[in-house]
Amino acid sequence: MSAPPAPKHFLQFRDFTREEFDHLFERTRWIKDRFKRYELYQPLRDRTLAMVFEKASTRTRVSFEAGMNQLGGIAINLNRHDTQLSRGEPIEDVARVISRMVDVVMIRTFEQAIIERFAAHSRVPVINGLTNEYHPCQILADVFTYVEHRGSIQGRTVAWVGDANNVCATWLQAAAILDFRMHVATPPGYEVDPRAAGLADTSRLSVFADPMEACRGADLVTTDVWTSMGFEAENEARCKAFADYQVDAGMMAMAKPDALFMHCLPAHRGEEVAAEVIDGPQSVVWDEAENRLHAQKALLELLVCGRVAP
Ligand code: CP
Ligand code: NVA
Repeated sequence: MSAPPAPKHFLQFRDFTREEFDHLFERTRWIKDRFKRYELYQPLRDRTLAMVFEKASTRTRVSFEAGMNQLGGIAINLNRHDTQLSRGEPIEDVARVISRMVDVVMIRTFEQAIIERFAAHSRVPVINGLTNEYHPCQILADVFTYVEHRGSIQGRTVAWVGDANNVCATWLQAAAILDFRMHVATPPGYEVDPRAAGLADTSRLSVFADPMEACRGADLVTTDVWTSMGFEAENEARCKAFADYQVDAGMMAMAKPDALFMHCLPAHRGEEVAAEVIDGPQSVVWDEAENRLHAQKALLELLVCGRVAP
C-alpha cells in the first residue's frame, strides 16, 4: 500500500503563502458573518480535534474548543500532566497514536523542535497553538483584525515594542509574506535575532533603540508580556531591563493619529502597556481576542476540508 500524502501543517507563519492567507481572511470574514447571524455552519461534523497543552491557556483553549464545536466537530483537551507524555512517552509515539484517532491536532508546547517532531510523525494536520519560538494562530487573527478595521495591511508599518519573543518573531514572518514594514524596539541584551525568527528576508525590518522612534508614523503599535511562559525565572531581571519599554500615551502619540493598538493578551497593565492605552480608544484587543475564534475556524476548515469555494 502506498503511503498517504503528507498532511499540510501550520507550524509557523511562513508555512502558508500570501495567497493562502488571502483565502483564510476571506473565509474568516464569511464564517464570522454567518456566526453573527446565528446560522449553523457545520462542515466538520464527525471530525475530531485533539488539543495538547503543555502550557497554560485561556484564549487558545476556548477558541479552538468552541470553534470546533461550532463547526460540528468535537475537541478533546489533553493537558500534559494527564497524559503519558508526563511519564516520558516519546512525542513521536504520541503523534503516531493520536493522529490515527483524530482529524487534526493543535499543540501548545515549549521548543519548536517538539512540534516539528510531532508533525513529522503525524498522519493529520498539526497546528501550532504557541511554542517558545512562534504563535502563528495569534498573528493570523491579528492581521485579520487589522484588515477588518483598516483594510489591507500591505505597505503599512507595525511597531513592536518590548520583548523580541514568539509573537514578535511571528509578526516578522508575516511582514515578509504579506509585505508590510516592522519597526522593532527592544532593550539592550534582548535584541531581535532574524535567524532565530526564521526570517530569510530582513528588508522589511528596522530596528530601533528608542521605542518612541519605533512608534513614529506607525499604523499599528503592538506589544506583549515582558516574561513569556517558560521564562519565569528571568522575571525580575526582565522587569528592570524593560522598564522604559512600556507602551504609553506618549508612544501612541508618535504613531499615526488613527493607529491601532494590539496585544495578544494576557496583559499586565503598568508593565508592558499603560492602562490608558489598552483600555483606550485606539485599542482593539477584544476584537483581536474574538477573532482567534473566527480565524481558527477558517484554518480548521482549510486543513480538514481543503479549500472551500466562497
Ligand atoms: N493570546 C493567547 O494565546 O492567549 P492564551 O495564552 O490565553 O491562549
Ligand atoms: N509571549 C507570550 C504569549 C502568550 C499568549 C508567551 O509565550 O507566554
